[in-house]
Amino acid sequence: MKITFFGQNTLLLEINEIKILVDPFISGNPMAKDRIKITDFKVDYILLTHAHQDHTLDAEAIAKHSNAIIVSNYEIAMYYQEKGIEVHPMNHGGNWEFNFGKVKYVNAIHTSSFPDGTYGGQPGGFVIQAESASIYIAGDTALTMDMKLIPLITKLDLAILPIGDNFTMGIDDAIIASDFVECDKVLGVHYDTFGYIEIDHEEVKRKFRSNDKDLILLEVGQHIEL
Ligand code: NI
Ligand code: MN
Repeated sequence: MKITFFGQNTLLLEINEIKILVDPFISGNPMAKDRIKITDFKVDYILLTHAHQDHTLDAEAIAKHSNAIIVSNYEIAMYYQEKGIEVHPMNHGGNWEFNFGKVKYVNAIHTSSFPDGTYGGQPGGFVIQAESASIYIAGDTALTMDMKLIPLITKLDLAILPIGDNFTMGIDDAIIASDFVECDKVLGVHYDTFGYIEIDHEEVKRKFRSNDKDLILLEVGQHIEL
């Protein structure tokens, strides 16, 4: 599994030949918009954790030019189905076996309205169990006890956690979340995009190291392989 970071919570997962884009926010992200164009993305699936603009801004355009299937909660799926996009609706606790692996939509504590005020259901995260690796994409969330359920589902190879604070967990809660999900390898997301979520990179890395955890911070366009 190849995971490429494009800022905020935008991730491109490549599992065998299948491309899965998570929470596309490129054209409105000053950190990403000059590095890659949304027309560069040709993907099979788009996974959306919740409806906020910094997670869905480019979903419609990329889904339309890619003929991608949008996977999200029921309300978000219906929102895009009305725009003529193929969707796969899920809801919390539900699993589906896709052609790249098994996906479970799991709880997150956050909110989920579209920029125009349309109700975007309840926010979530995804646990993806593929042949090569199991990963947890927390989405925007507070630290929650529900994270303790995840190691009962699968042994994770990577936890993708927000670390920017203010709108989501900050670094101290992310370290606790890493304990809850029983995965010491963390890819940090949802930081530096706006003033509210700027982080001190050295400080967060030092905090993770002092807890014997491995925090990965990628530049826009950088990737890791699992
Ligand atoms: Ni959000
Ligand atoms: Mn967000």
